[in-house]
Amino acid sequence: MKVLIIGSGGREHALAWAVSASPLCELVLVAPGNPGIADLIDGRGHCIPASLDDLDGLVALARDEACDLVIIGPEAPLVDGLADKLEATGIAVCGPRAAAAQLEGSKRFARAFCARHDIAQPQWEYFTQTAPACDFARTLGACVVKADGLAAGKGVIICDNADEAEKAIHSLLGGRFGAASAEILVEERISGPEMSAFALLDGADAVWLGSAQDHKRAFDGDKGPNTGGMGAISPSPFETDTLRAEVMENIIRPVAQGMADEGTPYRGILYAGLMLTKSGPQIIEFNCRFGDPEAQTILPRLKTDFLSALLTQAEGGLSHFDMQLLDDVAVTVVMAANGYPDAYEKGSEIRGAEDLNDGSLVFHAGTSREHNGALVSAGGRVLGITGQGPDTASAIAAAYDRVSKIDWPGGFYRRDIAGGLQQD
Ligand code: AMP
Ligand code: GLY
Repeated sequence: MKVLIIGSGGREHALAWAVSASPLCELVLVAPGNPGIADLIDGRGHCIPASLDDLDGLVALARDEACDLVIIGPEAPLVDGLADKLEATGIAVCGPRAAAAQLEGSKRFARAFCARHDIAQPQWEYFTQTAPACDFARTLGACVVKADGLAAGKGVIICDNADEAEKAIHSLLGGRFGAASAEILVEERISGPEMSAFALLDGADAVWLGSAQDHKRAFDGDKGPNTGGMGAISPSPFETDTLRAEVMENIIRPVAQGMADEGTPYRGILYAGLMLTKSGPQIIEFNCRFGDPEAQTILPRLKTDFLSALLTQAEGGLSHFDMQLLDDVAVTVVMAANGYPDAYEKGSEIRGAEDLNDGSLVFHAGTSREHNGALVSAGGRVLGITGQGPDTASAIAAAYDRVSKIDWPGGFYRRDIAGGLQQD
């Protein structure tokens, strides 16, 4: 079958890696892709220049190339309705329609949905005016103020007290993120370790894909500014059989059932950001897609053919699907351009990123190829290096061993992904 993957980051590289390994895959196209993906799929497909804003252009591409399945990597085209348009032309999709992608696109929608379906979450209220928002924040004390819409991961302000909340409320409702923060949520601030849970939903049922823990701060010791993610481990160190069963039973399946009951069935990957509180897991947020870099740790742990799972998902047969995972641990270390997540330079040369066939995986996120064949940086997060092993220590060692063979003076990485600090 012919598969089209939409996106250009490390997540899409990992998706292309998993899909192109399937015996069911005849051709894989990636729009727009990146140089690492192009090398990976050479002989089985190619990357095609595309703009993620041009939904009609992407639909035309899928139709002209007679694709059997389209996998949509990032959230923006999902929230904008790319899955709806593809399905309307009869093309199978992995990724929810716009109405279901509201679970990520609108934090208010997600909170109201959880309230309707009794899914555990912090206390919350929704506001468009500062005075009532500040009144509610005062009843909570420590709280969290959030922009309702997509704000590139920056629309959440954690507040220690009502004074901080007041500033946050004025800033967000004052237009800090434009339309995305014209409406806000004020939430009870809950505490506990965080775990990301991933599942594949077919509109009625769901299968577990794995858990992960990411590292959002730029520097070792969880210091520095927030980033898109500097590394991840799967499974999460907090995952147990009991917790996994609880999350499926009390969160993931109720989402599948609730979305179906409301006439907006959810198909595709669901990412549930959870806080493991003393009274059990509670929803922090939903994303309507794989995490990046979490996908780079989850996908290498799947024992079952990923493409056959996606086909079953598109046909609606997951309730009888046996999704198996390896017992391995996978660790991904992100290499980012010096300066990221603030201003950084592009165009510095990277050597040693080619496949060494040593079991490690080098996923490209922000690279480009010069005319002379040199690989250079072209983004903030540039590479994601995944190592696997029977336990955490061996997965960490495998990932950092591969990182040490990459010669890139223009970049940096955290030395404490998944625990123990690595020495130089
Ligand atoms: P989000 O973008 O919604 O995932 O929020 C970013 C981060 O803010 C989360 O990973 C949590 O660490 C934190 N956070 C969000 N909501 C809450 C909450 N209600 N209580 C405590 N921490 C929260
Ligand atoms: N790594 C966080 C995310 O993909 O949203």
